[in-house]
Amino acid sequence: MRTIHRLDQLRNEIASLRAEGESVALVPTMGALHEGHLTLVRAALKQANRVVVSIFVNPTQFGPNEDLDAYPRTLEADSALLEQEGVDLLWAPSADEMYPDGFATSIGVDGVSADFCGASRPGHFAGVATVVCKLFNQVRPDVALFGEKDWQQLAVIRRMGRDLDLTLPHVDAIIGVPTVREEDGLALSSRNRYLDAEHRTKAAALPAAMREAIAKIEGGEPVAQALAKLEQALLSGGFSKVDYAALADAQTLKRIDALGDRPARLLVAAHIQNTRLIDNMAVRSG
Ligand code: PAF
Repeated sequence: MRTIHRLDQLRNEIASLRAEGESVALVPTMGALHEGHLTLVRAALKQANRVVVSIFVNPTQFGPNEDLDAYPRTLEADSALLEQEGVDLLWAPSADEMYPDGFATSIGVDGVSADFCGASRPGHFAGVATVVCKLFNQVRPDVALFGEKDWQQLAVIRRMGRDLDLTLPHVDAIIGVPTVREEDGLALSSRNRYLDAEHRTKAAALPAAMREAIAKIEGGEPVAQALAKLEQALLSGGFSKVDYAALADAQTLKRIDALGDRPARLLVAAHIQNTRLIDNMAVRSG
């Protein structure tokens, strides 16, 4: 595996791969890799001959009081994991390389980014959309893979890909990979490592309360009532704040208050021990 920090080098590497007729899959990450990322890499290896993983802790997607400085940076360990998985290129640009002096462009994706994490983290999705657009232009992959754990992020990226005719060959080239969970149901996340043992155990209340709410909603309980109980379960189970707990159309991300015939998703963001966890799960439509 080659590790590349400069864009001119990346362009040369990609040009050589293309000259050899290789197909390329991209897995964008912010590092601090866990089994969820490795699942993306394994899925990518099935999609293309060559896999590029990017590691870049993107400052523009963090708000002023968020965890940019604390975000784990573990390039050496990440690199060893990717090497073991058979990744071809590790693209690890510096912030200066990604955002050269005078950088002034931002991509806003209306609609799908408005609610949920877009509302509780202003500017977050503009940062994500901008950096992902840059990554697509830098690597020019045939396919790109993202975790479904960030369901809204995936919707924002798909919308952007369609709207801006990005270089990926077709919209299905943006591939969502199902969330990987710990044995107790907690979705894998780089932020789980902020939790001490006590709060890590309590964090399992999140998927448990979501599963319970889904069973209630699918069983016909009014959505608002099931969501209120979910919030209560989180607050009494060790979470300090719930940013949102909502049922939404799985594609448009518009809130819904009853199941219809379109796929629905339960989306939650909640804080425990100063750590904001997000999760989402499918809800069977009526
Ligand atoms: O999901 C992430 O890790 C990041 O938001 C992404 C897509 C790599 C953009 O920085």
